[in-house]
Amino acid sequence: MTQERLLEVKDLKVHFNTPDGIVRAVDGVSFKLDRGETLGIVGESGSGKSVTCLTSLRLTNLESADVSGEVIFKGRDLLKITKEELRQVRGKELSMIFQDPFACLHPLYKVGDQIAEAIFAHEDCSKQAAKKRVVDLLGAVGIPRPDSRYNDYPHQFSGGMRQRAMIAMALVHNPDVLIADEPTTALDVTVQAQILDLIERLKTDFNVGVILITHDLGVVADVAQTVMVMYAGRPVEIGTKDRVFSQPLHPYTWGLLESIPHVDQKGTRLVPIQGMPPSLIRVPPGCPFHPRCPHRFEPCDKDVPELYDRGGGHPDACHLSIEDKKRLWNERERRRRKVAS
Ligand SMILES: Nc1ncnc2c1ncn2[C@@H]1O[C@H](COP(=O)(O)OP(=O)(O)OP(=O)(O)O)[C@@H](O)[C@H]1O
Ligand SMILES: [Mg+2]
Repeated sequence: MTQERLLEVKDLKVHFNTPDGIVRAVDGVSFKLDRGETLGIVGESGSGKSVTCLTSLRLTNLESADVSGEVIFKGRDLLKITKEELRQVRGKELSMIFQDPFACLHPLYKVGDQIAEAIFAHEDCSKQAAKKRVVDLLGAVGIPRPDSRYNDYPHQFSGGMRQRAMIAMALVHNPDVLIADEPTTALDVTVQAQILDLIERLKTDFNVGVILITHDLGVVADVAQTVMVMYAGRPVEIGTKDRVFSQPLHPYTWGLLESIPHVDQKGTRLVPIQGMPPSLIRVPPGCPFHPRCPHRFEPCDKDVPELYDRGGGHPDACHLSIEDKKRLWNERERRRRKVAS
């Protein structure tokens, strides 16, 4: 089956000029997204996940930032098209759902009317037709009795329902790409699982490509086909979910994997990653992860490791040889299993 490439981000850099210095929020990010694919972008707080996606949608204030690279969406570079062309694309062909749905819904307007407004932003449509579409969408995202809930105000919706309403709003124009920025962090685990299931189902029903941003590798485990792990504004590893989970290549990914609970390994000790992510104004020389890396060796504090594919379409940015990586990861796994048994 041939894949339809929807989005290709090439060497994206976003450097903010601040009074304290230059914040290298995104420093060379490249990835691709096909229709029907879910790409999970994972990394600790401040690793540049949101800025990558916001800049791809040109939602970053370009006056305060130096932006370079390309964001090719269906053949056009979104960083170069006119504002009018951008208006046509954003919210219509490419839409985004945010972490906190309460902040995105106006408390004094009915939820249904707010979703209908998103239709009117791009289309001439009668009020009646818009209402029907909104009710259908509210039903599609799992709001019970959607015709009567249309008239509810945001405070009458639970947190999970508000997030479902935001997802409905993002889907009003049948977009090609849906970007979900931490869509479940404000929700309890049961509702979180329901929302992730919903996003996965809608991906098929609406035939979209999904970018799911999260700081939690456990969240991408069930839904993503591809995973990009970010650290200090750069991708450190990109691969299929199966490869990243079964044979992760970067010590930072190892740390992330060891700090999430594994359902199949009860009693496993969770090991937090030592230290803190660096300030993006003063990124350490060499590999930005080296001060926290238990496997650092001679070149790590001097040379920046390039993202490099040693075969298998699973590039990573680390100086260790592939043999050392396999050995070290297997040793860490053995140690972890021993603690669990
Ligand atoms: N407008 C801005 N001006 C200056 N610095 C910024 C701006 N926006 C973001 N940053 C900085 O860029 C870095 C990356 O931020 P970003 O929001 O992308 O992180 P994140 O990975 O999404 O983190 P989180 O998981 O907390 O949402 C952070 O250090 C942040 O402080
Ligand atoms: Mg963020």
